[in-house]
Amino acid sequence: MDGSKGIERSVNSMNVLDRFKLDGRRALITGGSKGLGETIATALAQAGADVVLVARNADQVESAAKKIASSTGRKALALAGDVTLAADVERIAASAAERLGPIDILVNNAGINIRGSITELKEEDFDAVLAVNLKAPWLMARALAPGMCERRWGRVINLGSILSVIAIAGRAPYASAKAGVLNLTKVMALEWAAQGVTANAICPGPFATEMNLPLLNDPAKYQAFLAKIPMGRWGELHELAGAALFLASDASSFVTGSALFVDGGWTAQ
Ligand SMILES: NC(=O)c1ccc[n+]([C@@H]2O[C@H](COP(=O)([O-])OP(=O)(O)OC[C@H]3O[C@@H](n4cnc5c(N)ncnc54)[C@H](OP(=O)(O)O)[C@@H]3O)[C@@H](O)[C@H]2O)c1
Repeated sequence: MDGSKGIERSVNSMNVLDRFKLDGRRALITGGSKGLGETIATALAQAGADVVLVARNADQVESAAKKIASSTGRKALALAGDVTLAADVERIAASAAERLGPIDILVNNAGINIRGSITELKEEDFDAVLAVNLKAPWLMARALAPGMCERRWGRVINLGSILSVIAIAGRAPYASAKAGVLNLTKVMALEWAAQGVTANAICPGPFATEMNLPLLNDPAKYQAFLAKIPMGRWGELHELAGAALFLASDASSFVTGSALFVDGGWTAQ
């Protein structure tokens, strides 16, 4: 619309639910073998996308891909690799394009957490957490976003955390990395906005996945977390699916550089 012509009066006739459909799209989800990544990959496949799952454990990523293919009828390709290694990332990007086609949606979900006080943590702990949570999203996007820009449509979704904006003692590398993810997301958004490629973050509160076994197995720590959540409960895996689908689809076409918190109200306080 040309601003000089006044306000837009026609209502677009496309049904809003159709804007959430991902038919014909291809999505690559890092850390797609379990937890939130498997949930996101399943949701995108249910919405019509073919998916590529990436993780280091080849058996686990293969079995998740088989499960998604059989439950959704979509293509689901498993690629084993380490997203912190530039050579693996390049191989994964090339293999995904060759075997499935150009990737339209990148979900940078792979993550690790090494807990400990600042003085307890070792240098390799800090480096490892920064590499998976912060460097890998940049490596993956560097490999895949140029193609999205050429095709004038793309979605990058980076997994932040409530720890992107709040701090908890004993989480120095993880909180630093996840805070970095938000600003990395904004830079991506600015660099690719004019090419039709959006970049947004999803910031979950606590969900029961392997990453959180140390909390789930410790009643005192579990209760302490619970006390911080206004909804009074942890998230259920399916509660992340809608956020991911929104940001992956045409429904979010004017949303870029944003962070969507899925945390039962934790960061509203
Ligand atoms: N669960 C939560 O409550 C929560 C809250 C806030 C944010 N998050 C974020 O959400 C994302 C998913 O977390 P999650 O709880 O689902 O974790 P998870 O169950 O521990 O799964 C992590 C996934 O990442 C993969 N991965 C780890 N390092 C990798 C590497 N170097 N290269 C490739 N894949 C790698 C793992 O597979 P392999 O080990 O086989 O490589 C696995 O598929 C993470 O970014 C996490 O920080 C989670």
